[in-house]
Amino acid sequence: MDTPYYKYHVFFCTNQRQDGRPCCQDNRAAEMRSYMKQKIKEAGHSGKGEIRVNTAGCLDRCDLGPVMVIYPQNIWYTYLDEEDIDEIINSLINEDVPVERLLLKE
Ligand code: FES
Repeated sequence: MDTPYYKYHVFFCTNQRQDGRPCCQDNRAAEMRSYMKQKIKEAGHSGKGEIRVNTAGCLDRCDLGPVMVIYPQNIWYTYLDEEDIDEIINSLINEDVPVERLLLKE
């Protein structure tokens, strides 16, 4: 298999619903996406062969949100705040084990 263009390609659902159903943007998803993107850039780990953070629409796991998914590893996370995002960033940069407590297992 070819080497992936990005080592970790992170997709944040930032979907906002107006009908009262749960959605990731109810939990500051766009703000957390920007926070992660900025932190990774500052750490010098963005771009080809490294980490890319993108916005996504609904990933259809709304009840477990807010959610992000990381490819090609197929790692799904939820998160609450900047501290959680920092932990996820550290595990990616250090190529560490995933942050167990934030993993979506269903
Ligand atoms: S609104 Fe985020 S997964 Fe559906």
